Amino acid sequence: MLPGRLTFLSTREGSIVNIAGYAKKRYSTKAFDPARKVPDETIAQLRELICFSPSSVNSQPWHFVVASSDDAKARVAKAAQGRFAYNEPKVRNASHVFVLCARVLIDDVHLASVLLQEENDGRFVSADARNAQRNSRQGYVDTHRYELKDAQHWMEKQVYLALGTLLLGAAALDVDACPMEGFDAKVLDDELGLRGKGFTSVALVGLGYSGEGDFNKALPKSRLADEVVFTDI
Ligand SMILES: Cc1cc2nc3c(=O)[nH]c(=O)nc-3n(C[C@H](O)[C@H](O)[C@H](O)COP(=O)(O)O)c2cc1C
Repeated sequence: MLPGRLTFLSTREGSIVNIAGYAKKRYSTKAFDPARKVPDETIAQLRELICFSPSSVNSQPWHFVVASSDDAKARVAKAAQGRFAYNEPKVRNASHVFVLCARVLIDDVHLASVLLQEENDGRFVSADARNAQRNSRQGYVDTHRYELKDAQHWMEKQVYLALGTLLLGAAALDVDACPMEGFDAKVLDDELGLRGKGFTSVALVGLGYSGEGDFNKALPKSRLADEVVFTDI
């Protein structure tokens, strides 16, 4: 258990959780009930969950903005205009909107803070273990910085893991959700002053409860067949 973090124990410990059932139950909610709010303790669980999402070399190159008031959601909705206007009502009527951001740089200050956090959390049994972790992470980061030249893309991949984690967790907590890439990241970054803080918006997740006009609720889920998706060797 990490100090200072809320920890929610599973009520299902020892039993088999039908995790695929949650994946099949969840769907992208196309209209939220503006009158219903997700309880604070449920949002607290989702916040904890998203922080515990895995990332390559534990790089955690992300930041999350949580909009809950009407004013805050209206600020986010400024990025859902014009060709993205189809998402505006979801942003405004969701109980909460999570703005998932990537860092604009994976810089040495960030790497040092990740290492320090790992040290404080008791990850290193010796100075050698600490140095090995630092060097290993640096190797990956340098590969993406200097050889592949895809550091931004690499960081965004990690943010998408957090997105998937959040969606599955919301389903498990009976919260409806809609992931959204349909917004103007430049507008949102400007509105929230993100780039000045070293972040850029990547995806939104509206969280709440299905409302009138949510056509997707009644539609069957659709996924490619197992034989297309899997190869057993
Ligand atoms: C990264 C990502 C971006 C998406 N962007 C939008 C969006 O902007 N607006 C929207 O209504 N749905 C959006 N969706 C929902 C997808 O269309 C939906 O996940 C997909 O059709 C599968 O359906 P399901 O989520 O209901 O299982 C997005 C989904 C993902 C994963």
